[in-house]
Amino acid sequence: MKIIGEVVVYTDSLSKDLGAIIGVNGKLPSYSEEEINKFKENTIGKRCIMGGVTYRSLSKPLSDRTNIVLTKRNYTSVDGVIFCKSKEEVMELVSQPEDESDIVVIGGKEIYNLFKDEIDLWRVSYMSKQLELKEGDKVTRLPDEIFGRNRIVNSTRYETFRSVLRLKY
Ligand SMILES: NC(=O)c1ccc[n+]([C@@H]2O[C@H](COP(=O)([O-])OP(=O)(O)OC[C@H]3O[C@@H](n4cnc5c(N)ncnc54)[C@H](OP(=O)(O)O)[C@@H]3O)[C@@H](O)[C@H]2O)c1
Repeated sequence: MKIIGEVVVYTDSLSKDLGAIIGVNGKLPSYSEEEINKFKENTIGKRCIMGGVTYRSLSKPLSDRTNIVLTKRNYTSVDGVIFCKSKEEVMELVSQPEDESDIVVIGGKEIYNLFKDEIDLWRVSYMSKQLELKEGDKVTRLPDEIFGRNRIVNSTRYETFRSVLRLKY
């Protein structure tokens, strides 16, 4: 069983040295159909660990995947979702010998930080189009060092930007 960190990184022209941008104003700033297809390929059939903020940003749970959501909130049960109240609970769940499917940590920032020592490999995809940030934008960044040496950089630099309304994770 491997634990993989799956992350999409955005760039802007000014502040590369401040860290890798992973979100703007609590969302993904842009989307690419190719990247979403790649995300599906990398996660279908697997157990996906995410934080409550990322979970709430999805229109519905990820289909054909086990959604493991770390949250302090009391959710009522949702098909395909396992809610966990602590990292220990998540680790206990994913260590059950009866399920050996890979585990993918899909964000966001708090969750990448929380699991950084458990992640065996980072899969980092870059969006090549530079973001145009506006004053007052709340930018979520990860320090570049978090990816360490165990990283696979997706060779595709995703160019196609479309409305998320037409795309589904
Ligand atoms: N670029 C990418 O690949 C990528 C991927 C995913 C997300 N993102 C972006 O990242 C941003 C969100 O990141 P974030 O750091 O704000 O949120 P997050 O990591 O998605 O979720 C944080 C939440 O996780 C829960 N949590 C964290 N630590 C916990 C613990 N020890 N025990 C129990 N629950 C815990 C809490 O949920 P509750 O509030 O429910 O209690 C907390 O509010 C957004 O902009 C999103 O679009 C980017």
